[in-house]
Amino acid sequence: MEKDYILGTDQEELDRLGFQHRVWSEDAFSLWKKGGVRQGLKVLDLGSGPGFASFDLATIVGAEGHVTAVDISQSYVDYGNFQAKQRGLTNITFVQGSAHHLPLVGQQFDVIYCRWVLSWLTNVSDIVQHIAALLKPGGVFLVQEYVQWGTFRIIPERPAIRAVIEACRESWRIMESEIDIAPQLPEMFHKSGLQIEHKAVIEKVANPKEMVVAMAWYLLAHLFQKTH
Ligand SMILES: C[S@@+](CC[C@H](N)C(=O)[O-])C[C@H]1O[C@@H](n2cnc3c(N)ncnc32)[C@H](O)[C@@H]1O
Repeated sequence: MEKDYILGTDQEELDRLGFQHRVWSEDAFSLWKKGGVRQGLKVLDLGSGPGFASFDLATIVGAEGHVTAVDISQSYVDYGNFQAKQRGLTNITFVQGSAHHLPLVGQQFDVIYCRWVLSWLTNVSDIVQHIAALLKPGGVFLVQEYVQWGTFRIIPERPAIRAVIEACRESWRIMESEIDIAPQLPEMFHKSGLQIEHKAVIEKVANPKEMVVAMAWYLLAHLFQKTH
C-alpha cells in the first residue's frame, strides 16, 4: 500500500500549501492562460492536494466544464469534496487515487495540470506515458516542477536555514524519487509523443516584508501539446 507523502497531510501542511499557492498562483494562472484553459474544458489536476489550484481551475472552466482532482491522500480528497459541497460547486470532483494507478478508466481530458507532484514520485516516465494516454488529441499537459530545489537562499545567510536545506536534500537523496525532476521531463515527454511548446524558469526574489519571504525558488513551467 502506498503511503501519504512525506510532508504529511495535517492542518499545518494544508495551511502551508494554501500559502504556497497564493505565492505562486500568478505563475499558475499565467501557465493556464498559455495552455488555453478556458470555459467548458475538462481538466485533470493530478496530485491536487486539498485543491487550492483545482478550485481556481474550476472557476475558469465554469459550469460547462469540469475539474477532476486526484490525490493519494484520502484526507485531502475529503477536504476538497467538503469544500466543493460548502461552496455549492458541482463542476469539481476529488477522487482518491495514485498517479501510479489512476482511477480514471475510459476518461480523457483537454488539460492535465500537475504542480509539485512528479518530484515526489518514482517511475515518472511510466506516469508521463499514462498521462499522455489520458489526453484528448491536441490536449495539453501543464507542469510546474523543480529544477534545482536547493537553490533558495536567505541573505544574510543563516546557518539554521542552511542546515534545514541540507537536511531536506539529504532526505531526498535517500528517497527513490528525484526532487529536481524537471530537467528529466523533456526526454520523457518526447518518448510519450508530447511536444514541448513552452518552457520557462520562474524565479522569485523578495524582501522580508513581502509575501514571498526572502527566498528564490526555481521552477520550470512546461506546456506540452499532444500532436498525435
Ligand atoms: C507538494 S503537494 C502539491 C499539491 C498541489 N499540487 C499544489 O500545487 O498545491 C504534493 C501532493 O502530491 C500528492 N501525492 C503524493 N504522491 C502521490 C501519488 N502517488 N499519487 C497522487 N498524488 C500524490 C500528495 O498527497 C500531495 O497532496
